[in-house]
Amino acid sequence: MCSSSSLPSYFAPDRGPAKYFHGRKKVLMDFSEILKYSSQNNSGLIFLIQGAPGAGKTALLHECERLARESGWETAEKKMYPPALWSPSELRKSLGLRNLPKITQGSAQVSVPGIVKAEVSAEWVQATTLKILSTGKKPLLLKLDEAQTLGTKNKPPSNLASAATNVLDAIHNGELDRPVILIVGGLGTTADIFKTLGISRFEGESFVELDALGEESERAVLHDWITKEGRAKGDPTPWIDAISQETHGWPQHILSYVKPVLRQLKADNRAMMAEGLKAVVEAGCELRSAYYEQRARDFSRKQRQSLARLIANVPLGEGLDEENILESLTKEYGPDKAGKLFGDAQHSGILHKHAGIYTVPIPSMRDWLVDNYSREQIKFPQELQPRRSMHGRNPEIDLGGR
Ligand SMILES: Nc1ncnc2c1ncn2[C@@H]1O[C@H](COP(=O)(O)OP(=O)(O)OP(=O)(O)O)[C@@H](O)[C@H]1O
Ligand SMILES: [Mg+2]
Repeated sequence: MCSSSSLPSYFAPDRGPAKYFHGRKKVLMDFSEILKYSSQNNSGLIFLIQGAPGAGKTALLHECERLARESGWETAEKKMYPPALWSPSELRKSLGLRNLPKITQGSAQVSVPGIVKAEVSAEWVQATTLKILSTGKKPLLLKLDEAQTLGTKNKPPSNLASAATNVLDAIHNGELDRPVILIVGGLGTTADIFKTLGISRFEGESFVELDALGEESERAVLHDWITKEGRAKGDPTPWIDAISQETHGWPQHILSYVKPVLRQLKADNRAMMAEGLKAVVEAGCELRSAYYEQRARDFSRKQRQSLARLIANVPLGEGLDEENILESLTKEYGPDKAGKLFGDAQHSGILHKHAGIYTVPIPSMRDWLVDNYSREQIKFPQELQPRRSMHGRNPEIDLGGR
């Protein structure tokens, strides 16, 4: 019987671990040194990778985890969710440990299946969590992705906030009985959120602001997808040249173009034709716009216009100060709503803080916002409201969620 893994999939996921990973060499080298140092010195730390949506955080975390495993580190069996920092049972679950008999003392509620609700204290939670982390022969690597949610939907409950802070602090200062590293990925707000959790300073090498891929790495990713996955016949250079004009080194965008590449090569029996490339570039552009639309999904048209007007006159590569953004939004929405809109724009990755200023993180995302929303809107009667189609979506392309 034919194994399914031997069949080409023609599908390239635009989120998560990379099939053809390239670049990020400095980060991986630094991380490798940190692994070595930590296991030799029985220490540990928190390693934070933050960046805009689609910058490649999850893929990079995955590579870091692979490096750790290859260096003999224990890694979690299951995905770790933020509550593992203040819930011993959640932590045990992600480490693949059997759960312990239930709790005996304290003041926070823990449910015992079916029967009792026992009370535990923050002290108990902290001591138990630290014990779990300390117990084991190998050094331990924990991975926490989407960590910006620690400031929103995954905020530690107030009665266990001190436990979460002390657990993070113990890891960050290497105070456990074995080397423990927590690698964290999250949007540009993550470092600020860690500050509210008591972690205000990171080792130079252990704080990464992830940016676009360099040109060489971007081309290598495209080359692999076109030749290895797409099994294209001939020289892929013209296709790589054309696509890399559109992707700005942005990993998510590269995958937006890779999807139509695979489809087109299949349709054209692996031949790279000029017409095929044209169709790929158009379809990739559609997917890219659809991605921006998703990022902006929770914003009303008025809010999008406000954000677009804010950035329309800021030259590419420059940014805005928080004070100016808030001042401008406050005029339209009042202070509370302005603050919320500003926060939401950061949480959705539309605004990204880098070196103290805020920008729209991807040049083509900025263009999308400005082109579609910064011009004065003409008021149409209700029945004549124009339907904005982002360059006419290709009905064949199904984004399938995010
Ligand atoms: N260095 C890389 N080489 C090759 N492909 C990459 C690289 N980095 C990321 N990718 C691919 O780009 C896409 C987006 O990356 P990823 O999902 O890691 O981004 P992210 O920053 O975690 O995005 P989000 O904020 O939406 O979670 C994925 O398909 C991923 O496999
Ligand atoms: Mg991710």
